[in-house]
Order: sequence, then structure tokens, then C-alpha cells
Amino acid sequence: MKQEEIGLRVRRIKHGTVIDHIAAGQALNVLRILGITDRSNEVVSVVMNVSDRKKDIVKIEDRELKPEEVDKIALISPDATINIIRDYEVVAKHRVILPSQIEGVVRCMNPNCITNTDEPVRPRFVIHRNDAVELHCVYCGRVISERIADFLI
Ligand code: CTP
Ligand code: ZN
Repeated sequence: MKQEEIGLRVRRIKHGTVIDHIAAGQALNVLRILGITDRSNEVVSVVMNVSDRKKDIVKIEDRELKPEEVDKIALISPDATINIIRDYEVVAKHRVILPSQIEGVVRCMNPNCITNTDEPVRPRFVIHRNDAVELHCVYCGRVISERIADFLI
């Protein structure tokens, strides 16, 4: 059944941000990136595993995202779109951008990596995208290709 036939699952918002086309199953990690917890007062709608293509959607009322938040979302969901809503209209829509390198955003999973020592070097990764996103540590070569959200700093 198509979305149009069953109507909107959650209602449209008046002001705020809709993060759409999130990879299915990643909505809770998006909330984590945005610091939304059981103690937040923000009005948030979360939709998981919708549409034929299977995606998640997060709608946050009265908030625009910081660039560093958008950059983290790109790592776990490189096809996500950020829709800015004002007075019920989508006034801006852009896809997140996956950078070619990141520094200080994700920690290396290798405990012996120089970035995890007592005098740590800021972790830096080169990003490759095949089907999935792969982070290659520039110091030890370790590759993170799954559960990237677990390594976010
Ligand atoms: N949306 C919303 N509240 C609004 C306007 C839009 O929650 N006042 C949501 C829509 O439900 C959709 C997203 O914001 O999930 C983008 O809206 P729109 O651009 O109208 O939808 P589409 O054309 O389907 O988007 P796309 O082409 O990016 O898939
Ligand atoms: Zn490393």
C-alpha cells in the first residue's frame, strides 16, 4: 500500500526540520546525534521502516540543525535529506554531504591505535562509499564499516 493511499502517518509540522530518507533503522541513532533523550522537551516525531523503499523519518519542531550535526547524520545515513519547514512549507531541502575525510568525529576501534593512547592524536579517517560507508583510519588502517554510530565522539 502506498503512503498516499493511507494518508500521512504523522502530521505535517509548522516550523522545524524534517530529516527524511534516513536509512531504515537509523532513526534512533539520529536522535542520539541530536542529543534528544528522555529528558528533552522538544516535540519530535519518529517514523521507522516506512514506504516500499524502507526508510526512517525524524521531525523536530522549532529547531534547525547545526552543520556538525548534519555531518554526523551523513556518516550513518548518506542519502538523508534535511528539509527546513517554515509555516508548513518546505523552504529548503538539501541532501547531507559525505565528506572525503573527517577528523575528531569518530574514534578508532583499534585500542592500540595512536589515536587511543595516553597522549592521543586526533582521530582521522578517510571515507569511502561503496554500498555502505567505510571509514579508514589514516593512522592504523583499521576500517569501520558497521555500527558507525557506536564510535561517534
Ligand atoms: N513535511 C512535514 N511537514 C511539513 C512539510 C513537509 O512533515 N509542513 C515532511 C513530509 O512529510 C516529507 C518531508 O517533510 O517527509 C519532505 O516534504 P516534501 O518535500 O513535501 O515531500 P517529498 O516531495 O515527498 O520529498 P522528497 O522528494 O525529498 O522525498
Ligand atoms: Zn586507528
